[in-house]
Amino acid sequence: MSSNIRNFCIIAHIDHGKSTLADRLLEHTGTVSNRDMKEQLLDDLELERSRGITIKARAVTMRFKRNGTDYELNLIDTPGHVDFHYEVSRSLACCEGVLLLVDAFQGVEAQTVANAFAAMEHNLKIIPVINKIDLTHARPEEVAEEMMNSLGTDPDECVRVSAKTGQGVDELIDCIIEHIPTPTGDPAATLQAMVFDSNYDDFRGAITYVRIMNGTVCKGQKIRFLKAGSVHEVVELGRFAPQRQPCDQLKAGQVGYLICNIKSLGDVHIGDTISIPGDKHAPALPGYSRPKRMVYCGLFPSDGQDFTELRDALERLSINDPSFEFEPETSEALGFGFRCGFLGLLHMEIIQQRLENESDIDLVQTAPNVTYEIINKRGETISIHKPQDVPDPGDIEEFRQPIVRCNIIVPNDYIGAVMKLCQERRGIQQTQEYLGAQRAMLGYNIPLAEVVYDLHDKIKSCTRGYGTLDYEMVGFEPADLCRLDIVVNGSRVDALSIVCHRADADRRGRAVVKRLKLEIERHMFEVAVQAAVGSRVIARETVPAMRKNVTAKCYGGDITRKRKLLQKQKEGKKRMKAIGNVEISQKAFMAVLSDS
Ligand code: GTP
Repeated sequence: MSSNIRNFCIIAHIDHGKSTLADRLLEHTGTVSNRDMKEQLLDDLELERSRGITIKARAVTMRFKRNGTDYELNLIDTPGHVDFHYEVSRSLACCEGVLLLVDAFQGVEAQTVANAFAAMEHNLKIIPVINKIDLTHARPEEVAEEMMNSLGTDPDECVRVSAKTGQGVDELIDCIIEHIPTPTGDPAATLQAMVFDSNYDDFRGAITYVRIMNGTVCKGQKIRFLKAGSVHEVVELGRFAPQRQPCDQLKAGQVGYLICNIKSLGDVHIGDTISIPGDKHAPALPGYSRPKRMVYCGLFPSDGQDFTELRDALERLSINDPSFEFEPETSEALGFGFRCGFLGLLHMEIIQQRLENESDIDLVQTAPNVTYEIINKRGETISIHKPQDVPDPGDIEEFRQPIVRCNIIVPNDYIGAVMKLCQERRGIQQTQEYLGAQRAMLGYNIPLAEVVYDLHDKIKSCTRGYGTLDYEMVGFEPADLCRLDIVVNGSRVDALSIVCHRADADRRGRAVVKRLKLEIERHMFEVAVQAAVGSRVIARETVPAMRKNVTAKCYGGDITRKRKLLQKQKEGKKRMKAIGNVEISQKAFMAVLSDS
């Protein structure tokens, strides 16, 4: 009966104890016995465990008996990080309520606010929960007040728990049953289900996580993914409790999984609606969008021989993560590699780490850049994923960059420092609110390129680690941008082009040529290193010609020494890339790329 079902998420800032609380709920409802309790069961990827970040949403069904009634409590796990906003919003769309979890010492943080607002937009019942009350320095009263000031929650409604000791967890379960609304939806209506997650099983193919909004789905039934337009047969369906438990049908209000012999995760779109084949299907659920890759970088094997190996590794990763994409790219400087697209910076870091863990390819990564939009002189809008694709200045009508809305929470003492930083990064202040006596929330619109560059690290360091940042896309806005090229003896070095604000071009151009001058070895001739915007040179350095031949001093007979020297030189050359008639070592590229 759907009146006994409760569907909810836990939303929290990183490290406020979401996984620990999920574990306690599993234990207190008897879903997992104490003995079987594996720490943080919901984060099932090893990497997530090592980083302590829940990356992909998962769902688990807990059966619980209270006053003689059986309840089905479905906990949908959500990623906590900003890069995965869209996935969070799809998970929220499958729930009637959320537990808004806040650390009793740290208080409200940027992600708490972002996620709480998202829950409000979905009209969900919010249960405020204050965690870690066992800590000696816990300050639950003040935190309850902060929550009231920033999120409008009632301090009297806050449930106080310790996910570590289990204190307050039984009361929280009562609260979930009493306050979270039961799902609506008609089991007899036409099937309409929301896909809120998927993962890949080597033996079974794609596993699709669904919430049934209306109707009933049965084993053996034919279903249709409305956006993808594909029809499949349900081979197995069931619930996670927490292991896969097959059953015969899932009805309106329930949450579970479908296995349909789908061979690629690319065919399962998060946010898609499942219904029946034919034209009597239910309408698609609102809110579907494709994952937007906002950050791009090039990945090249430092040894060209590893190209195929790198391609296989990237393919394996994209099977498990359709929001990551890659395509071959050739760079004069770095050889054959791939241009990869990510949802954001953390997503990029995760993929890189997986690559490192799962293969032993030595990688060169180019500086990350964001997606730009250009309206050309013919009035066409083009998306640009790498700086070298930016057309020449004469062909650009308007250059547009992505802007994000940043919410930054800082202790009052650091407000000035953070404001200065945001202004330097071309931020425009939108709001300033005080959360309590101690802390404030600043709202800024900032170009994503500036955020990607190093804003998070800088905020952390100028607030001694206390500041937190969250951002979401606002849209594209015109800006005075240009492509800055690096030219070595007349040849453009594609890997070193960057897009930057015109006002920064001089400074950045000068910095790169200075650095490159130090890194380029002397040749038999003079090497000119220039920075240019279009045909205008804005900085120049010269690497003087070499004066001596390396073997000159090995005159006459000492042939072995001469050979040794030449051999050494040859080895050095293997890692050299030719730019026109100039050879530049990979080390030089790395040095410049990591600086710029
Ligand atoms: P992410 O997965 O990174 O989003 O973090 P999370 O929110 O799931 O936090 P997690 O459950 O991993 O907890 C973070 C840290 O806080 C861990 O070291 C936990 O042991 C600790 N912790 C969680 N709950 C409590 C609590 O009630 N009391 C105390 N003292 N520590 C807790």
